[in-house]
Amino acid sequence: MPISKELKALIDSTCDLPPMPLVASRIISLASDPNTDTKVLERAILADQALTAQILKIANSSFYGCLRSINTVASAIVLIGFKGIKSLALAASLKSFYRRTSLAEKMIWEHSIAAAIAAHALSRHLCCQAEEAFIGGLIHDIGKTILNNQRNELFTEIVQTVYNEELTFAEIEREKLGFTHAELGGLIVKKWNLSTELEEAVTHHHSLSEIDPLEVEILKFAALLNLADALCLYLGIGYRKPRQDIDFQTLASAKILNISEPEILHLAELIKTSYEAEKDNF
Ligand SMILES: [Fe+2]
Ligand SMILES: [Fe+2]
Repeated sequence: MPISKELKALIDSTCDLPPMPLVASRIISLASDPNTDTKVLERAILADQALTAQILKIANSSFYGCLRSINTVASAIVLIGFKGIKSLALAASLKSFYRRTSLAEKMIWEHSIAAAIAAHALSRHLCCQAEEAFIGGLIHDIGKTILNNQRNELFTEIVQTVYNEELTFAEIEREKLGFTHAELGGLIVKKWNLSTELEEAVTHHHSLSEIDPLEVEILKFAALLNLADALCLYLGIGYRKPRQDIDFQTLASAKILNISEPEILHLAELIKTSYEAEKDNF
C-alpha cells in the first residue's frame, strides 16, 4: 500500500528527503543497464578509492559468503554480477550517511549492520533473494538516521520516551510526528529509485498487517526485515539491552516466513558470531 499524499506532505514538511550519495547513484545507474560495458562500470568504481576499498572489504566478509576471495573490482563484477555490485555500492556508500558520534548514532549504525547480516542469513536459510535482503536490513531504519540528522532534538526526545516508557518507536513517532521512521524510510527508498519491493518492505517493517496478503513477495520481504530486527533486539545489538524473552513462536513475521523457533535461535548464534567478526569491516 503506497503512502498517501497527505502523509507524504506531512513528512516533506518535517524533513528533507536527502539524495542518494552521488557515487552510489552513478554506479547503480550504470549497473542497472545490462548494456553497460563492464570496463566502464569498473572505471566508475575505481574512480573512488575509498568506495573501492569498502566494496572489496564487504565482498570478502565471511557473511557475504563468496567462496573465492575477491581481490579486484574486475573479479568482483564477474563473480557477483551487476546486481551484487549495485548492493555493494549502496552498502559501501551508506556509511558516510550515518553519523557515528553520539551513543544513539553508534547504536543505529551497529543495528543496521547487524540487521543486514541477520536479513542476509535469514534469506539464505529460506533460499530467497540474499542481495536485496542485505540492503533491506542495512537500510530498514534509515528513517531514524534522517530524523536524527535533521531533527536531532525531537529524535532524542523520541529515543528517551521509548526507553523510559518501554513503548515502540512507531507508537511514539506517531504521537510526536504523525508518521513513523519506517514510512519516512520508504519514501527515501522511493526517491532513490530502488525497487518497489524494497520500498514497501521498509515502509511496513513494523506494520505487516497493513500489507495486502496477496502481495506475497512484499509480505515475505517485510516479514524478513521484521524478523531480522527482532533478532537484533533479542541479541541486544543497537538496543540498550538484549530482550531474550521474545516469543518467536508467536511472532507474526516468523509465522509468515514459516520458520520455527529452534531454527531462529540457531540463526541467532550464527548472526552474533558474524556480527562480532565483521562489524569493523563496515
Ligand atoms: Fe524500524
Ligand atoms: Fe530496526
